Amino acid sequence: MRTVRLAAPDDFEGWREAARALALVGAAPSEVLWEVAGAETDLFGAPAPAPPAPAGLFSVPRAFVALAEQVICHRDPERFALLYAMLVKLRERPDALDDKADPLVHRLEGMARAVRRDIHKMHAFLRFREVETEEGPRFVAWFEPDHHVLRAAAPFFVQRFATMHWSILTPELSVHWDGETLAEGPGASRADAPDGDPVEAVWKTYYASIFNPARVKVGAMLREMPKKYWKNMPETALVPALLKGAQARESAMAAASAVKVGDNVGKSWDAVRAEAMHCTRCDLYKCATQTVFGEGPLDARIVFVGEQPGDQEDLAGKPFVGPAGQLFDRALADAGVPRERTYVTNAVKHFKFERRGKRRIHEKPNGGEIAACRWWIQQELALIRPPLVVALGATAARSLFGKVVTISALRGKGHKLPDGGEAWVTVHPSFLLRVRDDREAEYERFVEDLRRIGRRAKDLA
Ligand code: URA
Repeated sequence: MRTVRLAAPDDFEGWREAARALALVGAAPSEVLWEVAGAETDLFGAPAPAPPAPAGLFSVPRAFVALAEQVICHRDPERFALLYAMLVKLRERPDALDDKADPLVHRLEGMARAVRRDIHKMHAFLRFREVETEEGPRFVAWFEPDHHVLRAAAPFFVQRFATMHWSILTPELSVHWDGETLAEGPGASRADAPDGDPVEAVWKTYYASIFNPARVKVGAMLREMPKKYWKNMPETALVPALLKGAQARESAMAAASAVKVGDNVGKSWDAVRAEAMHCTRCDLYKCATQTVFGEGPLDARIVFVGEQPGDQEDLAGKPFVGPAGQLFDRALADAGVPRERTYVTNAVKHFKFERRGKRRIHEKPNGGEIAACRWWIQQELALIRPPLVVALGATAARSLFGKVVTISALRGKGHKLPDGGEAWVTVHPSFLLRVRDDREAEYERFVEDLRRIGRRAKDLA
């Protein structure tokens, strides 16, 4: 058995040198024991020098070096041996890393992913607090990474806070920047880091001002910012209150945009449509082919509002002409509501998608995009003044009501809108294309909604 003792848990250079020497003498992975100096298994004190490297040619794919640099930071004690086993494999088969079905490749890639994520968390969720020292102010942060990532994460802070003096303390290592040099020190405990100070107030104000209620996605927030990190972050103390207020703030944003629509009163539908063709109110115009504005008679008694144009609508410049539109046409015909007597539009006027190869895959618009586009739908409604407006699906309903609503709670009856009109809510036709169970029954329910909407429009005539 050959024992290699590395200087630190993330000692990539030490591992590389030793692994290279071992591979050149043909050492089998099972013959090598890897240890870290100072770790519990280290019975010998000082790190042993790496085995002398015999001369010889040695090269591995660049991708392996990048992978190994990350895996070495993982907390798994087997990481050194696993990397060495991979190295030996690569010497026999230089393309071995491409075999994604190989359990070793799979395991190493999973470890690298975990390390990258840990580094990202440190960059995103570490918070400095100011302390007065004899040399002046120093910013100190406490963080508990899952892996040995402090050295890998530190250059980011050097770049970002180059002119400040700061320290990052973790349980196993600390790093200290004085504006010129990054020094290392021993691990620390939470009690060594200051807790609460004037810097927090600044952070909290900043965070509250950038918090956009229309972008709140609680699930995503928790995934990205696990509660474990919250205790180090002053602004997270604000989150429950901000979330509570988010709904009210989104409604306020909706009300504010409704008032602004008044500025455009007097403009004809043609003029508004022409303006919308050059809309840059959010970023969606950058990738879409064109604005897809609403269409139909301006004296329509029913306005249908969908989510956003799809792939085919984006190319044609007309709403509801693709698969969902065809199903919508069939349902309207079955319900006895002639589409040509209605006005059909969307809550968002540009196609939002993700490109996958040659395909453009629909992506749901977010609250900010819906809010930005409310400018246009409000003007369409102000110009047409229909007695009935129908939200097809959740995005349209969110746009009309200015807040997130549940379709099942509102479906099947009319709801008064602030301008005196009446809103109805039903499912989006694309829901019927996706649904697996009882598709026929769902379709019938949709047609029945449209029948009732048609009857109600007549009643209001
Ligand atoms: N889906 C929508 O919401 N609108 C369209 O125009 C097409 C598909």
